[in-house]
Amino acid sequence: MKVFIRNIKDTAFACDALILPAPEGKGAGYYEDIDKSLNGLISKVTASGEFAGKRNETCLLHTSGKIKPERVLLIGLGKRQELSPEKLRQAGGRAASYLRDLKIKDLALSTHLISSLNLSPADFTEGCLLADYRFLKYKKEENHNGIKKITLLTGEDLQKQVRWAGAAASAVHFTRDLVNTPSNIMTPSALVRAARSLKRVSVKVIGRSEAGRLGMGAYLSVAKGSDEPPAFIVLAYKGKNIRPVTLIGKSITFDSGGISLKPGEGMEKMKYDMAGGAAVLGVMKAVSEMKLPVHLICVLPAAENLPGGSATKPGDVVKTISGKSIEIISTDAEGRLTVADAIEYAKRFKPSAIIDIATLTGACSIAFGNEAVAMMGNDEALMEKMKRASGETSERVWQMPLFEEYRDYIKSDIADLKNTSGRSGSLVSSAYFLSEFAGDTPWVHLDIAGTAWTDKDRPYIPKGATGIGVRLLLGFLKNL
Ligand code: BES
Ligand code: MN
Ligand code: ZN
Repeated sequence: MKVFIRNIKDTAFACDALILPAPEGKGAGYYEDIDKSLNGLISKVTASGEFAGKRNETCLLHTSGKIKPERVLLIGLGKRQELSPEKLRQAGGRAASYLRDLKIKDLALSTHLISSLNLSPADFTEGCLLADYRFLKYKKEENHNGIKKITLLTGEDLQKQVRWAGAAASAVHFTRDLVNTPSNIMTPSALVRAARSLKRVSVKVIGRSEAGRLGMGAYLSVAKGSDEPPAFIVLAYKGKNIRPVTLIGKSITFDSGGISLKPGEGMEKMKYDMAGGAAVLGVMKAVSEMKLPVHLICVLPAAENLPGGSATKPGDVVKTISGKSIEIISTDAEGRLTVADAIEYAKRFKPSAIIDIATLTGACSIAFGNEAVAMMGNDEALMEKMKRASGETSERVWQMPLFEEYRDYIKSDIADLKNTSGRSGSLVSSAYFLSEFAGDTPWVHLDIAGTAWTDKDRPYIPKGATGIGVRLLLGFLKNL
């Protein structure tokens, strides 16, 4: 979907559908001019109760040649005093999916009401863009005939905001595609190809033998049961000559649990265990396209976690780059093993901050369902910045504590650490495990196990991979 901006009257712009956002209450009053031209049609549907302006309510009307737009779509915004950028994004998402399902191609948005409420039409547009996504690669008969374009009817200069929304949404779509793609296709090598498809980004791939030479024993132990070659992917983008920020994305292309095999039910979903890595690639895509003045190093320790003749076994002891030894209690607690080596590797770049994003624990989705990313870290100021980005993007994060008592949870009798103490407290103890590798480097951990996948359609997130983290991290980098 392309976005255009034109300074022209709502009634004078020819299109398939003109979107009229309307809060609860005043009804037609918001659009007196258009209502008059339509012989009071809008007043009629509001008076009859066919359209009340409830949040995300829709009402489509044909204009029968009385004004230039072929149709008008009333989209409810809910109560005026409860409006926010997020509600606007959701209304945009709902309007776009409604019109898309009717195969309507050419849209326009009336912006003066949104602007008069001190909100930005760019947020509504972002919702439209994010919603116009379907994963149909493996459907022979269907193809994605999405919306062709939307024109914002306004005299305001929204160019910059709209460009940002467009880059963010296409990065989110890129990430969703990677995550939705099944693991027989989305292998570590496929992630390498995705990384190499990005422009203005240098990519280095460390394979099994070089990783061995570097001492990445924790990372490699996860890949041992699979014939699929692991790939430790390092991307660099330098838009400014400053100390880098490092983003690490958990990239397990399939998590069977390994020898500590998961139950069969729902195991198919474990293709989304690379959602952290995919989010990081999405961020890199948008950052490099927008040429942001940042210095980013991204690390994706990609591997497939399978049981097999040479797989790691519970009780095995492995070493990370720095030589720390880890007793592997469960081969299903594999994410932290890969991220631990990635954190140690990232420290080589002397980053100003390390952010890791990972579908790390089932406990995260038990605690928050689909509604929040769990955040932990060793630097309050950094976490405050993440909270700010969370507020702006509505990719919600919620901070959890790293009490020093959790140290006991990961004490091993025979090694420096063990990779799990079981399920009690595992959302935080997994983060505590990572903190042992971050050391003094400012570090934030984001657990996206609950938010990376949705089983139900949401206003601008169709079911499947959500692309969580992309907009959050972009917002975070933008504010730096
Ligand atoms: N990838 C899983 C976590 C996960 C579960 C993500 C459900 C998304 C949905 C992770 O590797 C894992 O298996 N974690 C275990 C750790 C346990 C063995 C300590 C868990 O949380 O059950
Ligand atoms: Mn696992
Ligand atoms: Zn996993």
